[in-house]
Amino acid sequence: MPDESKIERDRIEKRRFRIKDIDQLKLVDDVFNEYTLKALYEIMNRRIVLEVYGPIAQGKEAKVIWGKDYDGKDLALKVYYTLANRFVNRNPYIIGDRRFSGKPSNPFKLASMWCRKEFRNMKRAYEAGVLVPRPIAFYSNILVMEFIGEEGVPAPLLKDVPPDDVQAAYIDVILNVEKAFIIGKLIHADLSEYNILNWNNKLYIIDWGSAVDSSHPNFMDLLYRDVRNINRFFSKLGASVVDEGKITEALIKRSKGSYIVSDGRVIVDGKDLLGYLSIN
Ligand SMILES: Nc1ncnc2c1ncn2[C@@H]1O[C@H](COP(=O)(O)OP(=O)(O)O)[C@@H](O)[C@H]1O
Ligand SMILES: [Mg+2]
Repeated sequence: MPDESKIERDRIEKRRFRIKDIDQLKLVDDVFNEYTLKALYEIMNRRIVLEVYGPIAQGKEAKVIWGKDYDGKDLALKVYYTLANRFVNRNPYIIGDRRFSGKPSNPFKLASMWCRKEFRNMKRAYEAGVLVPRPIAFYSNILVMEFIGEEGVPAPLLKDVPPDDVQAAYIDVILNVEKAFIIGKLIHADLSEYNILNWNNKLYIIDWGSAVDSSHPNFMDLLYRDVRNINRFFSKLGASVVDEGKITEALIKRSKGSYIVSDGRVIVDGKDLLGYLSIN
């Protein structure tokens, strides 16, 4: 019988990079170019991060690395690629968002801009009470956030591990979309089962880089598309879903009134979204 805890320890040890080895990061992983290493040094000097381990996931715009803070808490470091070509098709999202009117001139600046944009969006979502990993800090092209998972093993994506109670999870995601929109004035704009982590049936919405302010000229289409993606996924799992047009319309109408938050729910004219839609 192999000693499983030893295997686990070895596995973690292999992925661990001690601070003195930081320069070797660029040899083991191409995401660590000089620019990124400088950012990592800065983040470590500020004592936001104590140790960095290996990459845990690779997305279309970033690599996500596991780290630990000075209290031994796990962190996720999202390192944005600094290659110009990776960002070309993302430009349309930024056009029309009044917060990002300047044109970035080089790939490093562009990566940093995405990083800053995602951090700000996450902060807004987090403060609105949306279930997202807690954003902690950012510097250049590195975003530091709460790690969702355990000992360097990230929580699975919703697409791979469906929740136990699909109906409750569906409602939960829709109510989070409402909080982001009405309280945070934010539309995720890339919402799907690929950007939701299922951690013991708690659904964390991640990847806020493309999110737009509700003043965006296309906000209605983007909101509709997010809801449609969620509807498509959950109806496949057998949940009974409310028509995406109806939900989008309800959200827009409700966003025009004034709201209070009670028990974590957005209340407009005495009703939460479920009451408004006559569900339950
Ligand atoms: N806070 C986090 N905790 C654990 N894993 C994470 C976290 N954030 C991202 N990940 C992992 O990294 C992957 C890529 O992150 P994401 O933000 O979706 O980047 P991309 O824009 O490249 O798709 C995710 O699918 C997930 O597996
Ligand atoms: Mg993603």
